[in-house]
Amino acid sequence: MDIAGSNRRIYLDNAATSYPKPAEVFEAMARYMRDIGASPGRGGYGSSLDAGRLVFEAREAVVQLFHASRAEQVIFTPNVTYALNFAIHGLLRRGDHVVTTSMEHNSVMRPLRSAEEGVVAEVTAVKCDAQGRLDPRDVRRALRPNTRMIVMTHASNVSGTVMPVAEVAGIAREAGVLMVVDAAQTAGVIDIDLRALALDVLAFTGHKGLYGPPGTGGMVLSPRAATEMAAIIQGGTGSRSDEEFQPGFLPDKFEPGTPNTLGIAGLGAGIRFVLENGVNQIGMHELRLASKFEQMVRAIPGIRVFGPWETNTSAPVCASDRVATVSVGLTSAQADASQVAFLLDRDFGIMVRSGLHCAPLAHMTLGTFPAGTLRFSFGWFNTMGDVRSAAGALAQIAAGY
Ligand code: ALA
Repeated sequence: MDIAGSNRRIYLDNAATSYPKPAEVFEAMARYMRDIGASPGRGGYGSSLDAGRLVFEAREAVVQLFHASRAEQVIFTPNVTYALNFAIHGLLRRGDHVVTTSMEHNSVMRPLRSAEEGVVAEVTAVKCDAQGRLDPRDVRRALRPNTRMIVMTHASNVSGTVMPVAEVAGIAREAGVLMVVDAAQTAGVIDIDLRALALDVLAFTGHKGLYGPPGTGGMVLSPRAATEMAAIIQGGTGSRSDEEFQPGFLPDKFEPGTPNTLGIAGLGAGIRFVLENGVNQIGMHELRLASKFEQMVRAIPGIRVFGPWETNTSAPVCASDRVATVSVGLTSAQADASQVAFLLDRDFGIMVRSGLHCAPLAHMTLGTFPAGTLRFSFGWFNTMGDVRSAAGALAQIAAGY
């Protein structure tokens, strides 16, 4: 359907930030701003206690979502990048070796490269195949006697490829190596069960599949990670104020400074929304849309689809090997991804992200570096109508409308 000329806008950049947000999210945020306003743990008066309760309820929602065992294991951070930095810089020591994959986002690669530059750690990035798939046996082969950590994404933000984290976590556990997972693209769309999955750090962001606002995220820590991780940022916690050293107990050890209570109010409401609708139901809905989109664009002359989508012509409606992110390219030499994204927005009201998606190594793996791709990522609020509009617009652009 050509929607050129209409006011309707279609948001297909949910891998960057989900939009729209459920009404419950902004209502919870407005309630906090209007009726509470105070900081948690900073006073014995009613509003501070109300704020503390609100933060605790959000922690409990994270516990329920990931089947964690205790609220204190949940640390709130400004986003998943901060959580990964806490984990990488807080856990690595001089002389350590780290294993990662060639599908990582810069939220993993940059802190690792910085740690490597500081002679703190040496990094091996295990090569994935041209669809972004990782063979867990290659991870086992990459381990060394001084390997301290495996850190990897749960799903690629470029191709949607889901990584075999359970198998790799088993390898890490066997070798006594710390296992850190970046769940930026999977929290809220794939059921992550920490009772079955042995992770030391599960890093998540609030503003994608959890439908919270930007500026929210966090990590769930194992007892080992909580003990061994240094607090790389220190400050006031509202607790043990007589001491000049950072408290060693959770969550205060890793939550210095006034928390983003406004954001956490929204994040708690977002997670409750996800729990009510069901993680598997949301994931399946998004995957149906992505599969239909992939089927439609595959048929357009001059369009190439990358990642796991490339190898499968039958549409999966419930797959464990991908999330609802589809990267495509126009095969014509003149077609630049950013130009196509511009036309989609200007002429069709369709919003997507083009380029390298902060993941240059992933694009090198997929063979799409340095030009990058045009990425369509679907969310709970998208419809089959959106899929048809996006595929139709792409067909028109590919035909040189
Ligand atoms: N990592 C986010 C994305 O893939 C921002 O767009």
